[in-house]
Amino acid sequence: MPEGLFFPVIETERLTLKPLAINDAESLLKIFSDPEVMRYWNTPPWKTLQDSLDFINASNDSMQCQESLVLGVYLQSTGELIGKCMLFSYDAESKRAEIGFGLGRAAWGKGYINEAGEALIQYGFSVLGLRRVEAEIDPDNQSSAKTLEKLGFSREGLLRQRWEVNGIISDSAMYGRLKSDHMN
Ligand SMILES: CC(C)(COP(=O)(O)OP(=O)(O)OC[C@H]1O[C@@H](n2cnc3c(N)ncnc32)[C@H](O)[C@@H]1OP(=O)(O)O)[C@@H](O)C(=O)NCCC(=O)NCCS
Repeated sequence: MPEGLFFPVIETERLTLKPLAINDAESLLKIFSDPEVMRYWNTPPWKTLQDSLDFINASNDSMQCQESLVLGVYLQSTGELIGKCMLFSYDAESKRAEIGFGLGRAAWGKGYINEAGEALIQYGFSVLGLRRVEAEIDPDNQSSAKTLEKLGFSREGLLRQRWEVNGIISDSAMYGRLKSDHMN
């Protein structure tokens, strides 16, 4: 697949989704060092600028290898970085990938992930040729569950005691959306 397909710039009504740049590191750290944002994540909150730089570099490497698509979410009106969304665990043969997203607290509740998520899913279906997009969330994460349902995902199962982070054990709820679920 042409390399450029893993470095897209996607415009939606209010947002631009594009690869993260090194000079996003500080804004990204502000968002992902917030324990409220990271409450249901399977890693602890970030601590240092290096965590942020490591994430940006690892994201770029994984896009170079065509393993994932990690995009910053920017407000078109101001250019501000408000979060990130991604398609990862891409399996070209099985035509599936997993979706993930996270926004800074000030950007919650404005339907931004509905907009960004739908654009990313459509990109996955139409450009990357995906047949299935899946998501794994903490079943206690009501906001994420609502967001996935609004995005047309079905809850497909529960994996018990799947994670242990800082001694806390949690289950995973699995969601899926097929290309054939939503033919517009
Ligand atoms: C989950 C998340 C991505 C949702 O994105 P969003 O753009 O805020 O989504 P929406 O505006 O459609 O809101 C979805 C739900 O979030 C909840 N929510 C919205 N604003 C909220 C706020 N300020 N405080 C608490 N919950 C809020 C509501 O339950 C809302 O559903 P409703 O509109 O039907 O009431 C975002 O809240 C987030 O980044 N959370 C932290 C990171 C995270 O948990 N990511 C998912 C890990 S898999």
